[in-house]
Amino acid sequence: MLRLNNVSVNFGGVKALTDVTFDVPAHKITALIGPNGAGKTTLFNSITGFIPHFTGEIHFHNVKLNGKLPHEIFHIGISRTFQNLNLINELTLRENMFLGVIGKEKPPIFKSFFRLNKGYWKNVEQRIDDMLYLTGIKKWENSKPGSVPYGVLKNLEMARALISNPKILLLDEPAAGLNSKEKENLAELIGMLNTKGHTILMVEHDMSFVSTLSDYVVCLNFGKLIARGTFDEIRNSPDVIKAYLGDEDA
Ligand SMILES: Nc1ncnc2c1ncn2[C@@H]1O[C@H](COP(=O)(O)OP(=O)(O)OP(=O)(O)O)[C@@H](O)[C@H]1O
Ligand SMILES: [Mg+2]
Repeated sequence: MLRLNNVSVNFGGVKALTDVTFDVPAHKITALIGPNGAGKTTLFNSITGFIPHFTGEIHFHNVKLNGKLPHEIFHIGISRTFQNLNLINELTLRENMFLGVIGKEKPPIFKSFFRLNKGYWKNVEQRIDDMLYLTGIKKWENSKPGSVPYGVLKNLEMARALISNPKILLLDEPAAGLNSKEKENLAELIGMLNTKGHTILMVEHDMSFVSTLSDYVVCLNFGKLIARGTFDEIRNSPDVIKAYLGDEDA
């Protein structure tokens, strides 16, 4: 489904990714792990058009993603969450969600002046409602980001990524900062999305979360792929153990 072939990224002298090659199989949950600075977010940024200067090739269902812009990739069916939540504190959660939709979909604003696409806006409001219910944050919709628990904001990030009904969902550290109950709810949501047919690629440091949810795991270290397989296969890999040595998440 999603295929990366010799993907490399340089930032000045820093080799953030070196010849990374792997497949993300359809309808499965794949976890991308690795110590801090391993290149996980850089990989997400390459797939989603935020780093246009990567070398190698990325294909999604035989469509080459090289050179495509973030909103084009979004329309192909690839959606993502961000490691650092990007919310406007003066707006309510619902308004933040709305902004996320129009930023990505780029609706014909001109037509809106003449009320020619009422149907579109009605549909957006409906989809926002559906996603707020799905992620369990409907009751917070009129609150502002500063006044709700962090877990609610993480769910808002999920809701924003899901509103386009993506074929593949890239989650950058979805469990980071969550308490155990919130992690449990998130695991249930991710499992349910997968059952509904969404393919998932998630960056995650929480190994119990990874082991519970993932069908496959890919491990990066210093920008290189050092192991791939099921969680049980890679957990005993000497390279993975070495990469995590001294890391409390190991
Ligand atoms: N925009 C950038 N400019 C320069 N260097 C960058 C940039 N983005 C990332 N890097 C560097 O690339 C390397 C990989 O960073 P990246 O953020 O992809 O790691 P990560 O695996 O997501 O780490 P973490 O687990 O801490 O989120 C690091 O050395 C980082 O400093
Ligand atoms: Mg990262």
